[in-house]
Amino acid sequence: MSKKRIHIFDTTLRDGEQSPGAKLNTDQKVELAKQLEKLGVDVIEAGFPISSPGDFKSVEKVASTVKNCIVCGLTRALKRDIDCAYEAIKHAKYPRIHTGIGASDIHIKYKFNSTREKILKRAVNAVKYAKKYVDDVEFYAEDAGRADKQFLVLMITEAIKAGATVVNIPDTTGYCLPEDWGVKIKYLFENVPNIHKARVSVHCHNDLGLATANTIQGIMNGAQQVEVTINGIGERAGNTSLEEVVMAIHTYANSLPFYTQVNTLEIYKTSRMVSEIMGIPVQPNKAIVGGNAFAHSSGIHQDGVIKRRENYEIIDPKVIGLDTSKIVLTARSGRAALKHRLNNLGVDLTKNKLDIFYKEFLNFADLKKEVNDDDLKVLIGFNNDHTLINKISSL
Ligand code: KIV
Ligand code: ZN
Repeated sequence: MSKKRIHIFDTTLRDGEQSPGAKLNTDQKVELAKQLEKLGVDVIEAGFPISSPGDFKSVEKVASTVKNCIVCGLTRALKRDIDCAYEAIKHAKYPRIHTGIGASDIHIKYKFNSTREKILKRAVNAVKYAKKYVDDVEFYAEDAGRADKQFLVLMITEAIKAGATVVNIPDTTGYCLPEDWGVKIKYLFENVPNIHKARVSVHCHNDLGLATANTIQGIMNGAQQVEVTINGIGERAGNTSLEEVVMAIHTYANSLPFYTQVNTLEIYKTSRMVSEIMGIPVQPNKAIVGGNAFAHSSGIHQDGVIKRRENYEIIDPKVIGLDTSKIVLTARSGRAALKHRLNNLGVDLTKNKLDIFYKEFLNFADLKKEVNDDDLKVLIGFNNDHTLINKISSL
């Protein structure tokens, strides 16, 4: 099976930074950009240069620091935005300007108080203007998810004619269902006559919790680039999460004809860096990088994982840079998990002694959410100097 490379456009530093409370200073953006480069993303969208002098400086610094990825700055379809973005990215080894405008009738009427014809002209002029500065111009058709598909075909055709190298099809409001989204992307491939002159990108938001599903539908219907953020942060309910898309492609490596150049071993570290620097905790049940993503707490699951990890895990945590899965002891845990954790502390009980100790453990566990190693040591009878006192023999 010949595989198609899926380009990873990371917008953690732009759309991700639009999350309330996520604001980064220049040093923080540079530190995260270096980690994204290490992670192996293809494009770093470093910010929206005209939005503030601070963001201009951050994009400029990221552009002059990063050497192995394209560095991109966002603009509206306005000359002053494009001038400013170019000034910020001009020292990048691989500079890209990302410009665009609303494509849905809702945006055209209520955001721009304009008409399709006028908006189309602005789109074309913006791409042509950005092209004077850089070869690599990405065009976004904002709110494409709710846009009329024939108008979208026209807008994308004209943007490519004007010189766009990448066309970004965003589901800005996270409105689309996976099947409909896939049909929309396929429709573009079948109806935009010059579509093969540009790379098609999908940019999905998570308002219905469908961003990853939609992004996968996008690539299954021809898109070659995905726009994602670490931990899925972003406007409102966030963007498609990088780790989910990359690990879905990785997990289905034998049946899906795609690959990415992401170094999966860097995923967990990147997730935690973004969380700490932005001050946004990762929800415990977050797919791939949540604190519970590789934790097992019920007896049946623990027994299964201890017998063989694959019984309850589809991903080896080592692949994302985590040492091991976690066996969490709670009142729902079984003897297998208790024995496993005692063994890790160097304690090996006979079957009878384990049965007796298990009852004591359950009484304690009913009083607490989680039994940690320190609790276990006290229960089993470790001394302060960590030598085992004679409790076990009295069981
Ligand atoms: O969601 C969106 O439409 C965007 C564009 C600015 C690309 O973030
Ligand atoms: Zn967005």
